[in-house]
Amino acid sequence: MSLLATPFYDGNTGSFSYVLVEPDSGTCAVIDPVLDFCSDSGRTGTTQADRIVEFVKANELIVEWLLETHVHADHLSATPYLKTRFVCAQSGIGAGVREVRSLIDPDAPDPERRFDRLFEDGDRIGLGHACGRVIATPGHTPACVSYRFEDLVFVGDALFQPDFGSGRCDFPGGDAAMLYQSVQKLLSLPERTRLFTGHDYGPCGRPVSYLSTVAEQRRANVHFGNGAGEDCFVKMRAARDADLAPPALLVPAVSYNLAGEAGLAAVGG
Ligand SMILES: [Fe+2]
Repeated sequence: MSLLATPFYDGNTGSFSYVLVEPDSGTCAVIDPVLDFCSDSGRTGTTQADRIVEFVKANELIVEWLLETHVHADHLSATPYLKTRFVCAQSGIGAGVREVRSLIDPDAPDPERRFDRLFEDGDRIGLGHACGRVIATPGHTPACVSYRFEDLVFVGDALFQPDFGSGRCDFPGGDAAMLYQSVQKLLSLPERTRLFTGHDYGPCGRPVSYLSTVAEQRRANVHFGNGAGEDCFVKMRAARDADLAPPALLVPAVSYNLAGEAGLAAVGG
């Protein structure tokens, strides 16, 4: 039976998390789970993550993986919390997290202590009877990876919906030329490949959405469609990033995602 992906949307940060189910074995992977965070009180919460816990319980699933597409700058990750709920699950993130740590917080714990696996490009990920592959897609951050399982690919912030384009490249270690090359890898996949994005904000009042195909992105992505070239993309991205405000949760998110509760305490969370 085919793999099934269920989205969970966090309206506070515009983030999508996913539960990817391999139905024959009843196993699943949780991708980019969100931990609630109140800026005023500095407190975390688990309302969003508990929606995933309830889904897993209701469907009697076994969580094999807790996967991060990158070190998020706009929300706190619920992977540490879900590790306490699903103790047999393995956590994973791209090996580029080492570079993110060295650039942002060299005193943070080694990523090997926070994650069970640090993935390199091409690594395989077993999920029940299915086998996924890691596609390194750096550019938004050095740690960005996409996860491909059959014709489903979870692209994080490398690609947004076609009318919104791509992720910003102005965080430490971000690189627009690198993102351009990463996206070419995604756009070279078979045209029916389904792409699941990490964010959507419902631009111009349209309903939020999470799913596109490679064919749709090739044709209509406002940053990459119709064969837009690398130089053009890099210039566009630099101009656009210069106008973007920092994410509201930048400091607590990056601190927590690299160093956990200690990181949050260090920034007064
Ligand atoms: Fe991001």
